[in-house]
Amino acid sequence: MIKADIKKAIYCSGTLTAKCNIEIKTNNSMNVNGKDYRTIWMEGSSVFMIDQNRLPFEFVIFKSENYLTTCKAITDMTTRGAGAIGAAAGFAMAQALMSKPEKTNDLFIEQAKKDIQKTRPTARNLFYAVELVFEAGKNGAEEAFRMAQQIAEKDIDDSRAIGFYGNDLIEDSSSILTHCNAGWLAFVDYGTALSPIYTACNSGKKVFVWADETRPRSQGARLTAWELYNAGIPHRIVPDSAGAWLMAQKKINLIITGADRIAANGDTANKIGTFEKAVLANYFKIPFYIAAPTSTFDLNCSTGNEIIIEQRNPEEVLYQTGPDEKGIIHRIRVASPGSTAINPAFDVTPASLITGIISEKGIIKADQESIRKVTSKN
Ligand code: MRU
Repeated sequence: MIKADIKKAIYCSGTLTAKCNIEIKTNNSMNVNGKDYRTIWMEGSSVFMIDQNRLPFEFVIFKSENYLTTCKAITDMTTRGAGAIGAAAGFAMAQALMSKPEKTNDLFIEQAKKDIQKTRPTARNLFYAVELVFEAGKNGAEEAFRMAQQIAEKDIDDSRAIGFYGNDLIEDSSSILTHCNAGWLAFVDYGTALSPIYTACNSGKKVFVWADETRPRSQGARLTAWELYNAGIPHRIVPDSAGAWLMAQKKINLIITGADRIAANGDTANKIGTFEKAVLANYFKIPFYIAAPTSTFDLNCSTGNEIIIEQRNPEEVLYQTGPDEKGIIHRIRVASPGSTAINPAFDVTPASLITGIISEKGIIKADQESIRKVTSKN
């Protein structure tokens, strides 16, 4: 277990480049400025997480002491990315069970479960983790805590395995496009889409990454770029609309993205804009892979039509937040006053556009039969 000293949390503010020395280690943690970190973890009844809303300008650890605060951290995206959301939800369920008032009945826990499930609707890992911890909690709060820790540990093993298998797809001197952030910030460690890239780089391959900006929350420009920059991996941030141009210029050999939920037939929900990239990849005959552990598969959704797409506050489209030259953070309007916006957070890529899914059990086809087989193996 990593001991995080919150008082010594590293602040990179003031340096707009936020250069931290991140070492992608082969054991299970990330080293930021000489200190080991996980994206999210639980100690006692407190949950600690890297505050992703403050990256890349500040590296700050957020501490949540109760399940409602953890719920809020999921909703406001202090922590985000399917795996990190799943771990947070599992920890929140454990916090609720550990804090259950003596004389209340199970209604308190039922309500807590509903509160956690309401935070974000699309990431399958959230519901997967809540259910497992809730069930474990029937044998006591200690069991719930143990289960929540186990889910987080399994995330680490799974994302490391995804790196191992995905590495086979990466040739030396590849240029890879990724969308949103599916790196170690989006999982408990290593990540999904970025894990094969980290593994390839660690094995000595030269890799160049195109990081889609990923409006409106800019997870690519803020988080993926921060991870890659600090890991010393050559990359450039790409406007979301530049994909076709880059592909036409033959500047992309491979596309890997993460997933928030994968239906039984292989249709995959991921950050809005992923579908568009898959259509383009198909047109330009570029391999398009999804990287996700089997905990992201949802066999209760027979197709992607059944996946609930989160609609976020349109203000995220109309306003942007960032530092001025003195490092002071401002929120400014970037759209014509008076106009409104829509903000669907995810879209669904049909299985027919997906070359394969890189799971912790190997690379499989995005079809019903392969998904059934991989999810039935233990
Ligand atoms: O809205 P976010 O930032 O939570 O969305 C994250 C993504 O869409 C990631 O690509 C996805 O979770 C896969 S990475 C675990």
